[in-house]
Amino acid sequence: MRYLVCLVVGAVIGGLFAMTLANALQRRNAWPRALMNVMQHELGDARNAAKGGTCPSPVLQRASEHLRLLAGDLEPALLATGSRDRVLSQYMRDFGKVVTAWEPGADCLRQAEALTTITNACEACHRDYR
Ligand code: HEC
Repeated sequence: MRYLVCLVVGAVIGGLFAMTLANALQRRNAWPRALMNVMQHELGDARNAAKGGTCPSPVLQRASEHLRLLAGDLEPALLATGSRDRVLSQYMRDFGKVVTAWEPGADCLRQAEALTTITNACEACHRDYR
């Protein structure tokens, strides 16, 4: 009987510990994941707007401003303070460059091209780091 009680108590404590650990891990990734999901949303909106054929449009203007801002958050979100990663930093710089090169005032065709370049920069980093 005592053995059984110990076993049950042990299982409960183990379960609680595993849950706490899982929660902590999830919180740690909450910022980068939130950032990525918002970027994906902005990019999707922009692609649809560019396909829609009315350029320039306020949607594209806004998506461009947001992506520029969010690009600045990549480094603090993905790199722990004080740590360094030359390749990751290169991907972030490349991403920043293509986002800055996107002109939301251009015609739809040029913007669609810019958005493809941006998507490729997302995927380039994902291939190595996601
Ligand atoms: C410099 C590297 C880098 C760039 C650039 C980058 N990502 Fe990511 N992305 C990551 C990493 C790392 C993860 C995994 C994050 C995690 O799970 O903690 C990720 C995960 C994601 C996820 C999954 C998030 C989730 O809920 O698990 C999505 C969606 C995503 N990225 C979209 C994008 C889009 C869209 C772009 C471009 C506009 C982009 N990413 C650019 C590194 C990058």
